[in-house]
Amino acid sequence: MNMLHFAVLFALLFSSSSHAADFCVAKLKGAGSPAGYACRMPSKVTVDDFVFTGLGFAGNTTNIISAAVTPAFVQQFPGVNGLGLSMARLDIAPAGVIPMHTHPGASEILFVVQGKITAGFISSSANTVYVKTLKKGDVMVFPRGLLHFQINAAGINAIAVVSFSDPDPGLQITDFAFFANDLSSELLEKSTFLDDAQVKKLKKVLGGTG
Ligand SMILES: *[C@@H]1O[C@H](CO)[C@@H](O)[C@H](O)[C@H]1NC(C)=O
Repeated sequence: MNMLHFAVLFALLFSSSSHAADFCVAKLKGAGSPAGYACRMPSKVTVDDFVFTGLGFAGNTTNIISAAVTPAFVQQFPGVNGLGLSMARLDIAPAGVIPMHTHPGASEILFVVQGKITAGFISSSANTVYVKTLKKGDVMVFPRGLLHFQINAAGINAIAVVSFSDPDPGLQITDFAFFANDLSSELLEKSTFLDDAQVKKLKKVLGGTG
């Protein structure tokens, strides 16, 4: 093998494209897809793409649910793109609740850092309820796509760190899906069997119309 061939082989083996197999830091300016985002050029990637500092700070719980979710999903933390995981921090004030919701794209595992949290999920076919009050240090797993919730179960702020089995787990809060959009009250009542007063009340609270 002459020098030129060797140089070409070396360039192929150690070119920047070989790094693409190690990671794919998200190029967030492009469109996301179920497969993730396009990769930034490895030469533009720095250690800070693999570090997220936002989970060290309490979220603002002055809101309708008295709770905050601080996500470290791919949109906030481009280094997790393509790696099959992400994280978030939950802050739940004493009267707070992360209302019934699903993550269509991921299972979740929750670690209680402070306080107590009553958490539960509902299975999809049998509609079996699995609920438990968790204390500091406990871990609970919520299978992918299932409806679940977390409620503060003590008189102090609760903190939890959660991990997801996808960089972009998605978050759909059931009450927001029902009452925070323009789905007409008539169709909502017919499709949920909820009465008109309850539907109108929750649309008003959550900013829905129709
Ligand atoms: C928390 O959110 C509330 C409501 O939006 C706002 O009035 C308040 O200033 C925020 N607090 C902090 C510390 O950002």
